[in-house]
Amino acid sequence: MKAIRGATTVAADNEESIKFAVKELLDEIFSVNKLRTDEVVCIMLSNTADIKSMYPAKAAREGGYALFPLYSSLEPPIDGSLALCIRVMVLCDRNKSVRHIYLRGAQNLRKDISKVLNIAIDGPAGSGKSTISRILAARLGILYLDTGAMYRAIALKCIRENADYADKDTVKKIVDNLDLKVDYSEGMQITLLDGEDVSEQIRTPQVSLLASYVSAYGFVRNKMVELQREIAAKRSCVLDGRDIGTNVLPDCEFKFFLTADAAVRAKRRHLENISKGVEQSYEEVLKDLEERDFHDKNRAIAPLKQAADAVVVDTSEMSIDEVASYILSKIEEKI
Ligand code: DC
Repeated sequence: MKAIRGATTVAADNEESIKFAVKELLDEIFSVNKLRTDEVVCIMLSNTADIKSMYPAKAAREGGYALFPLYSSLEPPIDGSLALCIRVMVLCDRNKSVRHIYLRGAQNLRKDISKVLNIAIDGPAGSGKSTISRILAARLGILYLDTGAMYRAIALKCIRENADYADKDTVKKIVDNLDLKVDYSEGMQITLLDGEDVSEQIRTPQVSLLASYVSAYGFVRNKMVELQREIAAKRSCVLDGRDIGTNVLPDCEFKFFLTADAAVRAKRRHLENISKGVEQSYEEVLKDLEERDFHDKNRAIAPLKQAADAVVVDTSEMSIDEVASYILSKIEEKI
């Protein structure tokens, strides 16, 4: 038997807000934990004394949780306690570990157990990282953080400023004054450079190669890693890159390292380029890819390397669906 804890706050003491908050919390608990109906023993809810308009158990019943034994109780009024708070405990029959869910104003209540889920996907260019990461993030209902896009944005800035990327001081000045933000729209990452959405412009072969060069500078990496850790600490996300499992999130619970033969990777990238109207022969793509591999693997700081505790997946002979299903099954074994 396992107990899943959760809590949330309601916007106001009225039926509509209580129903919304309870349903949102239970939906999240069920979806994140992939709870099956037959595993659930009972759902117990409690509320702070300032909630008077509706029993949370009634809200649960009306929100689609009528099948389970439900129980509501009133918490004593405690000075300084969180206002308008609803707590829940779902008892379920399972051995696997569970994830506790704290939403809205309740997020700070139990930082110790409401941990965010981070998944590290590392590997060389063309190994399928971004496609797989996007699928995983969508299936798990969490964000996809494309860390390569950040290095690409710096490369684009260098190109726009006609900067000599081999000159450390010049690149440092650019990085010190960098206005780079990552935002999300309908689950898709938007990379904003100087306030402009450059998500498309950072995908050219020229930017790809230059990103590999500028990402070798320590000051570039420090700044990007800081930003990546900040995002990952706050929100559950799939991060793809070269050094996520080794350097950005060394304590991450889920680490995967994707590989594939260089020829297979070049073929994938070539097809991708054609679909985007980027003109580059297969031979050029392969040459660029090998050059990037060399730089990414041989730079002094945080090179492309598989973490000792990462699950290695050779995607050369696997379909996208096969890779995604395999990784999801590995994640589900643990959560
Ligand atoms: O994944 P990508 O092709 O978009 O990455 C572009 C370059 O950025 C890649 O050649 C190496 C660098 N990079 C990195 O050094 N560390 C990361 N976490 C992600 C990308």
